[in-house]
Amino acid sequence: MAGSIRKAVFPAAGLGTRFLPATKAQPKEMLVLVDKPVIQYGVEEAVQSGVENIVIVTGRGKNAIEDHFDVALELESFLEQRGKTAQLEEIRNITRLIKVAYVRQGEPLGLGHAVLVAREFCQQEPFAVILGDDVIDANPPALKQMIDVYDKVQGPVIAVERVPESEVSNYGIVAVEPAPEFGARVHRITDLVEKPSRGEAPSNLAIIGRYILTPDIFPALEATASDKTGEIQLTNGLRRLLRDRPIYACEIDGVRHDTGNKLGFLKAVVYFALKRHDLAEPFRDYLKSLRLV
Ligand code: UTP
Repeated sequence: MAGSIRKAVFPAAGLGTRFLPATKAQPKEMLVLVDKPVIQYGVEEAVQSGVENIVIVTGRGKNAIEDHFDVALELESFLEQRGKTAQLEEIRNITRLIKVAYVRQGEPLGLGHAVLVAREFCQQEPFAVILGDDVIDANPPALKQMIDVYDKVQGPVIAVERVPESEVSNYGIVAVEPAPEFGARVHRITDLVEKPSRGEAPSNLAIIGRYILTPDIFPALEATASDKTGEIQLTNGLRRLLRDRPIYACEIDGVRHDTGNKLGFLKAVVYFALKRHDLAEPFRDYLKSLRLV
């Protein structure tokens, strides 16, 4: 039986300015953690959570993402001729992972706008939004944890994480009240504020890059004005939707890395290298050999 969430949107049309110059000619979603581009971790999470179709919202200079999930005939026949079957299987599996569609966001007018661009793909179904640069190592996968909550609350579910007070201004922050009837990690949202100053933040529960949304988010986003940077923020669209229906927050049980900034990316590389059977030991030895103060 198909799960309740069959579709996922991957907004990937942002400019990645925090990661320049690497992102000048290469999307940040294609930066590599050990040997897989960041976006593949998110796609695998979606597959493992029961998603059947994804749409990647792309923009200028994002062709590498399409190429990555496309068939690479020349490469395949080269590997076949050389008898490199393990590598051949690996790259074929990427194409077989899931059905991928693409939609262009002409101008990067914000995350809310990127979600609006995917409206036709989502139609009248609830759907997931996955920000590929938030890589979450979790078992069950982060999105699966959220789908289990969605099945109980039958409404929008947003992934949140407690962050230090010094970081609240980098995130959308939610105000919440308890909702123990739906689980210890679930809260009912009472307000959302995009990138508040430290004094204005209603809590330290930050929105991270996973959402389960319902189709009524689209009219809410359409009615949401651009902010002072000219972007339509998803947080502001959700704030509008909150007038009409309950929205829930779910704290994920897992480890999240924000690979969209340099320090977060470096931590993720070390974390995932140390989880690899073929690399952990020599890499740990190397790290120990560094004379760190
Ligand atoms: P971010 O603000 O983290 O990404 O947007 P950014 O704009 O690419 O990066 P910086 O801040 O300049 O370094 C969150 C997510 O929303 C997507 C981004 O690709 C990222 O996955 N996004 C953002 C869009 O698809 N379109 C937009 O107009 C803005």
